Amino acid sequence: MIVDSVTKKFSGKKALDSVSFTAGPGEVVGLLGPNGSGKSTLMRIMLGFLKPDSGHVMVAGADSTEDSMAVRRISGYVPETVELYESLTLRELFSLVARVRGLGSKYALDRLNALVDAFELVKYVDTLIGALSKGNKQKVALVAAILHNPKVLFLDEPLTGLDAFSARVLKGIIRSKASEGGTVIFSTHVMEIAEKLCNKIVLLDGGRIVIYGTVKQVASVAGGLEELMLHISGRASEIEEILRALS
Ligand SMILES: Nc1ncnc2c1ncn2[C@@H]1O[C@H](COP(=O)(O)OP(=O)(O)O)[C@@H](O)[C@H]1O
Ligand SMILES: [Mg+2]
Repeated sequence: MIVDSVTKKFSGKKALDSVSFTAGPGEVVGLLGPNGSGKSTLMRIMLGFLKPDSGHVMVAGADSTEDSMAVRRISGYVPETVELYESLTLRELFSLVARVRGLGSKYALDRLNALVDAFELVKYVDTLIGALSKGNKQKVALVAAILHNPKVLFLDEPLTGLDAFSARVLKGIIRSKASEGGTVIFSTHVMEIAEKLCNKIVLLDGGRIVIYGTVKQVASVAGGLEELMLHISGRASEIEEILRALS
């Protein structure tokens, strides 16, 4: 995966400014950064949903800027805000996804059974999606995104809203995707998770890469990732003040 000098403006304001990094097979890349730093925009450009103003993205040999359909075939994506067909049952949604993905019915069924079981959704397969809790909807979106066993996984803040059990399952899926030689790109606010799960960190602030490196390299800077994030968003002193006022 190659992200090369990607710049994107929204009404004249740079959401991404010359962002470049690479990720290979077997890597888990954490996109970190405060709200509004460009994580979701970058992911949408990598998927080919948005065109950059300049720059180029290649995802596992597919050109995101030229051929987003090719990227779609090899990727799975769970957006930050999950939108699903509320009036379909889980079974109906998954069979739609399996058909669009061109999965064989035996393969789709076996894989679906395993995933539905892993995310504790078995009892909901004939329930309308609209009737599910937020967390369960998120799990449904995850299952739909990985049903075709994509080479590349894009997860935008995937752990927000998941219960501890499902978060653990997802972490396992991310790790096994990497060990199979896939690539995972995910964004998170939770530093501990980034430190535990990622090989590489891309830390964004105001659309620019502030830090890019292996977790080891990044963690050795400035007393760890969490500390670094606070300083980058300029909020370390603010927090100290709040704590002083509270004590
Ligand atoms: N569709 C859009 N139209 C206008 N501005 C946008 C749009 N999407 C994102 N932005 C702006 O781009 C910047 C980066 O946003 P985003 O990629 O969502 O950041 P993050 O995911 O890190 O919170 C923000 O300033 C945001 O307001
Ligand atoms: Mg976002």
